[in-house]
Amino acid sequence: MEVVKVDLREEIDNSYDIVIGRGLLDNLAMELRKIPANEFVIITDSNIAGTYGKRLLNDLKNKNIDVHLITFSAGEKSKTRKTKEKLENEMLRLNLGRDACIIALGGGVAGDIAGFAAATYMRGIPYIHVPTTLLAMVDSSIGGKVAVDTGHAKNAVGAFYQPKKVVIDLNFLKTLPKKELVNGLAELIKHALIKDKDFFHFIEKNIDRILACDVDILKTAIKRSCEIKADIVMQDEKEKGLRRILNYGHTIGHAIESALSYRISHGNAIAIGMSYAAKLSAKLGHLHEGSVIRQNNLLEYIGLPHKLSHHKLKPRRILEHVQYDKKIMNGRINFVLLNSIGDAFVSDEVNIEDIKNILEEG
Ligand SMILES: NC(=O)c1ccc[n+]([C@@H]2O[C@H](COP(=O)([O-])OP(=O)(O)OC[C@H]3O[C@@H](n4cnc5c(N)ncnc54)[C@H](O)[C@@H]3O)[C@@H](O)[C@H]2O)c1
Ligand SMILES: [Zn+2]
Repeated sequence: MEVVKVDLREEIDNSYDIVIGRGLLDNLAMELRKIPANEFVIITDSNIAGTYGKRLLNDLKNKNIDVHLITFSAGEKSKTRKTKEKLENEMLRLNLGRDACIIALGGGVAGDIAGFAAATYMRGIPYIHVPTTLLAMVDSSIGGKVAVDTGHAKNAVGAFYQPKKVVIDLNFLKTLPKKELVNGLAELIKHALIKDKDFFHFIEKNIDRILACDVDILKTAIKRSCEIKADIVMQDEKEKGLRRILNYGHTIGHAIESALSYRISHGNAIAIGMSYAAKLSAKLGHLHEGSVIRQNNLLEYIGLPHKLSHHKLKPRRILEHVQYDKKIMNGRINFVLLNSIGDAFVSDEVNIEDIKNILEEG
């Protein structure tokens, strides 16, 4: 037998900055000049295209940047392979080559699908995130997880592909509907619950200002949330271990999204998931009952659902989808539990029966 070795070890530097401020959209050209690309394409959804999309397109054109705008129909329903194919066809029609860069402008849906298109177009072109929802600012734009949903499961087809930069313009929050603010708060609170007790306290204390969309307080909260996520991603980019704690509330949450064919927002689904994950943490003897109440009171105050019955869901339906979950490996589930507020861990002691029982308790 002959062996030909293909030695491909290399040091890869995927580092990037997350910049946070007001009015950054109008100064994006400055950031783009630092990207090694000759041409740019803004990918955004149909709600954002007419407003921010056009504004950015015209601004960049006025600054002599070669730029195009591609749009898809807004909503989770569009986060599919079909939409990705349409976007790619459009990019091919525009003759975009390897020297192009994608600007993912929008919420988590635009970010996930545009990032995934960047990962595979011409075997990978650079992209930057310009998140416009709170959820995308604090969570989905950081960490390089890009994906689309399939009929079987959420985010079932995707990649790890880091952006070159994340530009968070706080001014986007001014037009964000209240329900989208609340949706994003679910992930923000998740970051506090898994890693930072003081941050959880900060959110509790300032919740009315947060709900009133006070940009100063939100800036502090967004920055802290980004730091928590970035810190976890830096330690475990490809989710071999620690990064799994970011899935707190997501095993049940993703199952709810699939069971409802994505007619529920991601934040609402994971809020329900976090509520049952906390109850299970207490039942298995890890978390104090008082902390379960504290967590769920905050979710309730914000207006996030925390019971299956809020969406007329039957436990059996959820369990079917939990079985599909890609996090099940060899019949085991990596379920994220809390020891206390601010301290999460990944457990392999949770089985389907435990999940069934906790869901049936209501
Ligand atoms: N990649 C990751 O690590 C990661 C993490 C968390 C969530 N996600 C994904 O993110 C997605 C959810 O993202 P989302 O909640 O941002 O949904 P979304 O992208 O659908 O945005 C929600 C709605 O808000 C509108 N919108 C966006 N910005 C606006 C603005 N500034 N003003 C007015 N309207 C605005 C959008 O058009 C859309 O209708 C899910 O698919 C979820 O799986 C990914
Ligand atoms: Zn999430």
